[in-house]
Amino acid sequence: MENIEHENRTREKLIAHANSIGVTGEFISDLVDEFYSRVRKHPSLGPIFNDKIQDWDGHIYKLKHFWASVCLHSGTYSGRPMPVHMALKNVEPFHFVQWLELFEQTVTELAPNYDVVEYFMERANRIGQSLSLGMFYRP
Ligand code: HEM
Repeated sequence: MENIEHENRTREKLIAHANSIGVTGEFISDLVDEFYSRVRKHPSLGPIFNDKIQDWDGHIYKLKHFWASVCLHSGTYSGRPMPVHMALKNVEPFHFVQWLELFEQTVTELAPNYDVVEYFMERANRIGQSLSLGMFYRP
């Protein structure tokens, strides 16, 4: 019981800190909408996503919960990104570079301050590195 309460307090503190710098559910929602609207028009990322995704509303809904779970510990995303990306054909390491560039551009344009950019980019870089290691690293 004590441990659970401790975890809840830690999570509350994390959310309060994130919210105080501008990482809120509303910001995440706007960011995901804008990022995927750019992804869909991107010359090399667009075709990969448009080939695979039929239900864009469903994808965007899922990704909002993914980022809320990563940034605000909402626990509202329960998928497994690694096998999903491993199953994608025609994805090369440079796609990750372009994905991260586009994500950074979008966050930088929308964020109220640089702390928010850092908050997202630290997490996006870590996840991008882990996904691309899983997909491309063959010892
Ligand atoms: C840091 C980089 C990335 C993050 C954080 C990320 C995150 C995600 C997440 C959470 C999903 C949903 C997985 C699920 O169904 O539960 C997803 C799906 C998808 N991602 Fe990524 N992704 C990244 C990079 C990329 C790149 C570089 C590509 C390809 C150019 C890509 C293509 C896709 C596609 C096509 C789907 C939909 C797959 C499907 O519905 O079957 N992602 N991504």
